[in-house]
Amino acid sequence: MNVEKLLHQIDNKEYTVGIIGLGYVGLPLMWTFHENEMPVIGYDIDQNKVDCINNGVSYIKHLGEDKMQKLAKSDICDATTDFNRLQEADALLMCVPTPLDVHREPDMRFVEQTTQTISKHLRKGQLVILESTTWPGTTDELIIKILEENSGLTAGEDFYVAYSPEREDPGNQNFNTSKIPKVVGGHGKDALKLACALYDTAIVKTIPVSDTKTAEAVKLTENIFRSVNIALVNELKVVFSEMGIDVHEVLDAADTKPFGFMKFTPGPGLGGHCIPIDPFYLTWKARQFEQNTRFIELAGEVNTSMPKYVVQRTIEALNSQKKSVNGSNILLIGLAYKPDVDDDRESPTYKLMDYYNELGANVEYYDPFVPVIKESREHSHWAGKKSINWTEEIIKKFDVVVISTNHSEINYLELSNWSGLIVDTRNAMKHVEDKNGHVWKA
Ligand SMILES: NC(=O)c1ccc[n+]([C@@H]2O[C@H](COP(=O)([O-])OP(=O)(O)OC[C@H]3O[C@@H](n4cnc5c(N)ncnc54)[C@H](O)[C@@H]3O)[C@@H](O)[C@H]2O)c1
Repeated sequence: MNVEKLLHQIDNKEYTVGIIGLGYVGLPLMWTFHENEMPVIGYDIDQNKVDCINNGVSYIKHLGEDKMQKLAKSDICDATTDFNRLQEADALLMCVPTPLDVHREPDMRFVEQTTQTISKHLRKGQLVILESTTWPGTTDELIIKILEENSGLTAGEDFYVAYSPEREDPGNQNFNTSKIPKVVGGHGKDALKLACALYDTAIVKTIPVSDTKTAEAVKLTENIFRSVNIALVNELKVVFSEMGIDVHEVLDAADTKPFGFMKFTPGPGLGGHCIPIDPFYLTWKARQFEQNTRFIELAGEVNTSMPKYVVQRTIEALNSQKKSVNGSNILLIGLAYKPDVDDDRESPTYKLMDYYNELGANVEYYDPFVPVIKESREHSHWAGKKSINWTEEIIKKFDVVVISTNHSEINYLELSNWSGLIVDTRNAMKHVEDKNGHVWKA
């Protein structure tokens, strides 16, 4: 294939970007290419998401109606569930889920299905890029194998393959997709050149690395780093609490050191689609090389023990008022796994709800971003439950309020005035004077 011709097409924006999987990663990526006047087609098996895009309806909070309206009205943007149209795209970027299965091993179903579908439509000159987080070796050992076997074409000669991890941080006001440098690993020099040229049209900077498995390892390293450091501050929280030391004050003060320290914040446990899951992709692959990942497993152990610690603190807090969890009305604040987003995947709040429920409490939640709990594989028993209304009369009815996620729009002063007992897992009450000593840190 004439790579120079393809590079010329990219430069002139006569090159169509196909994005497969239009969720938290794929939709902002679609917007980013569109914003930079690159023709883009989005593909998803979810008809509802495709209809939303084509009708200008937002389904991810931080990508609001105005941007969705622009996508819907655009002549260079389209969304479809018709995978026969994969041939229309010059590049195909896969942004599909990579969860863990019931045995906590990589669940590659979505990546495999998508690759199988691409392989049926693959044409010469196309560039296929995997963006999903995954174990090192996936692109070379799994993606290329399926594509070559089913299409009869050869990677690096007839078509091109690269891996570029997504570093999207939903809800982060300072860094949207276009502002986060993109690490790129190519299967061969031409694939690397094409992939970098493509991202250069829309993203601030590309960081080329030696090969696809290095790029895959970069993403896992970033998330393992977070998981291990969060575990460390969670452990310190428990230890310092026993010593009568406030871990948040310690961390804020330590953070004044201008070098050699990076602040992480303790909480009720890990949540989201990345940090609780991704490290175990490496653990799984490392076994093939007879290697242990002790830091990863220890961090997982500490972080998953946090919801039980919060329950223990809640028991102590209720006990101080001569009450038991059994029969208490408990309100959880924040169902999303982090502040100011509507993503409740893997949220530790669900764990807390389950534990309190098992202990005989009546559990309710408040979250302005998650008005009702949707059907899901893990939390089907909570599906349909609605967020309570934020009124003094309702809040006063609860024996204890547990702050699990510190959304910024919550009025913590009102909460302090209305609630007789608060368990704060996020230091959310730091700016509110605790006049009655009714705030317990956990
Ligand atoms: N959410 C984040 O903040 C984030 C950040 C960095 C990396 N990642 C990684 O990016 C990948 C995608 O995550 P996400 O959060 O966007 O997931 P998501 O669940 O929000 O979106 C995935 C989309 O893929 C679609 N899909 C599933 N199977 C498909 C198929 N066979 N063909 C076409 N579409 C299909 C789903 O319908 C859904 O719309 C994962 O590997 C994740 O680990 C996520």
